[in-house]
Amino acid sequence: MCGIMGYLGPEEVSGVVIGGLECLEYRGYDSAGIAVSDGRKIAISKCVGSVANLKAQMAEHPLSGRLGIGHTRWATHGGVTRENAHPHADPQGRVVLIHNGIIENFYELREELKGQGVHFSSETDTEVAVCLMATLYDGDPLAAIRKACARLRGAFAFVILFADVPDHFYCVRKGPPLVLAAPSDEAFCASDVTALLPYTNRILFMEDEEIAELSAGSIALYDFDGAPKDVRLSTVEWDASMTSKGIYPHFMLKEIEEQGSVLRRTLAGRVDGGVDLSAEFPFSDGDARRYRRVHLVACGTSYYASMVAGRLMDQFTGLDVRVETSSEYRYGHMICDAETVAVFISQSGETADTLAAARRARAGGARCLAVTNVVNSSLAREVGAVLELRAGPEIGVAATKTFMGQLAALSLLALWIGKRRGRLDRSDELRLTEELVRLPLKIESLVLQGNAIRDVAEHYMKVAGFLFIGRGLSCAIGMEGALKLKEISYIHAEAHAAGEMKHGPIAMLDVNLPVVAVVPRDLFYEKTLSNLQEARARNAPIVAIATEGDGEISRFASDCIFVPATEDELTPFLTIVPLQLFAYHLASLMGREIDRPRNLAKSVTVE
Ligand code: G6P
Repeated sequence: MCGIMGYLGPEEVSGVVIGGLECLEYRGYDSAGIAVSDGRKIAISKCVGSVANLKAQMAEHPLSGRLGIGHTRWATHGGVTRENAHPHADPQGRVVLIHNGIIENFYELREELKGQGVHFSSETDTEVAVCLMATLYDGDPLAAIRKACARLRGAFAFVILFADVPDHFYCVRKGPPLVLAAPSDEAFCASDVTALLPYTNRILFMEDEEIAELSAGSIALYDFDGAPKDVRLSTVEWDASMTSKGIYPHFMLKEIEEQGSVLRRTLAGRVDGGVDLSAEFPFSDGDARRYRRVHLVACGTSYYASMVAGRLMDQFTGLDVRVETSSEYRYGHMICDAETVAVFISQSGETADTLAAARRARAGGARCLAVTNVVNSSLAREVGAVLELRAGPEIGVAATKTFMGQLAALSLLALWIGKRRGRLDRSDELRLTEELVRLPLKIESLVLQGNAIRDVAEHYMKVAGFLFIGRGLSCAIGMEGALKLKEISYIHAEAHAAGEMKHGPIAMLDVNLPVVAVVPRDLFYEKTLSNLQEARARNAPIVAIATEGDGEISRFASDCIFVPATEDELTPFLTIVPLQLFAYHLASLMGREIDRPRNLAKSVTVE
């Protein structure tokens, strides 16, 4: 969370930095700000709200220069005010800094600095960091940064300008991500590679406890003790066209509609007359049989993909399966040892809770795997073995196409582990892999129903809440459908296993609480229909996500959205799509900020 962009070079800095911030706005949009050096002093412009507000402010009061940094904020310490917006400067304006993360000992440092006569003008932990650096600065920026870092506890990515060093800027990483580039006579930094793609795809992914000094065309890298390090540039396969909305009104809609091709890419080379993940996750037959446990650990949407995968792992691997949110796993006491396969699922690969959970598993000696969309992410580097989603950059804050990639990657993983352990029947392997490759076309037929789903959504614009239900795999899909709706429409939605409805949630049902039922023609069909009878008897309107050809469901449901038939184990790939579209259209009809829902950030780099 928080978007960071820095630039030094021949272009006018405000255009480059604001362009970068627009690209990174999904990381936070409480406030925005920019600092520009004119070669002698540093000027700051900041405001509450989005980058568009900053752009308007800059149009009225332009700042000109060739070196600058900018920030979009997701508030942690201190309310959403102009004073708390970044960049922050020390009272003399000698040092200016932007920050992503949390400084845990900020209060004690603040008191200490106040004791030395430093006056603070914001409530942020960031201002403490910049004032600390200024008090330690005696003309050697690297020394001041090193000394300050030694005193700071917590997680931080900083970009720092020193007013009397107008041809350099400095980056620090301890926790939250930062990427750097220095093509020809320029230098860039950003919190995410998408902001740099218009300029270059040769990127340096900073590692923890590194300090970088950037000047035109050059990067120097140091550890926290000041020892120089090698500059490791990687070539990123994404390009800038992948981060544009094209003809779509929102990234989210574009990303929902891309899901057929995402699935094709995730499957490519991994499915051919069966499943083969030996390139990404090799293990010997002996190892495969020695494993006793599999842990699936993730947050948010990635957690719901893990819930689906957990059921497939139960069915096909014969392992003890545990699906856990990262924030709980980290502090849990479950056995996690050399007989454990620990899988960490994260779209961004930067979620702080998931990174911390992965460290716990590694320390216990588990065999770890990252399932992520970002191959150079912190999680991928922490864990080593990576199963890439290949979904392309996802910009909408509410995850959609990466969920599809996760369903595919994790289903293949369940089949692969089952196969290597001798627990997967060849007939099941063929049945499922052959259907997997047929699914992209079915998804593409589903997204064509967008207008019909919009019509359904229109019936529910005025409701105060929804209850989502489903059984088995559809229970996890109900949860993900409810999450999508909450994230972008702000309507209350809760999801339960359909069989649990009668143990409590049913008390809420009446004509004002619609039930969204995920009820494909699978093993659980009739049981879920009985639950729908119960809901109907309480006059609750019912929206059913059902299988094409199901003539019975319309007797129960006020609105039906049909998905093509598929194998029971693969229904989530189809039932999720109408739920994403339902959430999208409802939020759009309500005039919500779909790609930038309030209070959320796409990449959550604090615990
Ligand atoms: C945030 C986002 C969610 C996302 C979750 C996990 O909360 O708003 O959309 O599902 O983080 O993100 P990850 O990158 O680890 O999958």
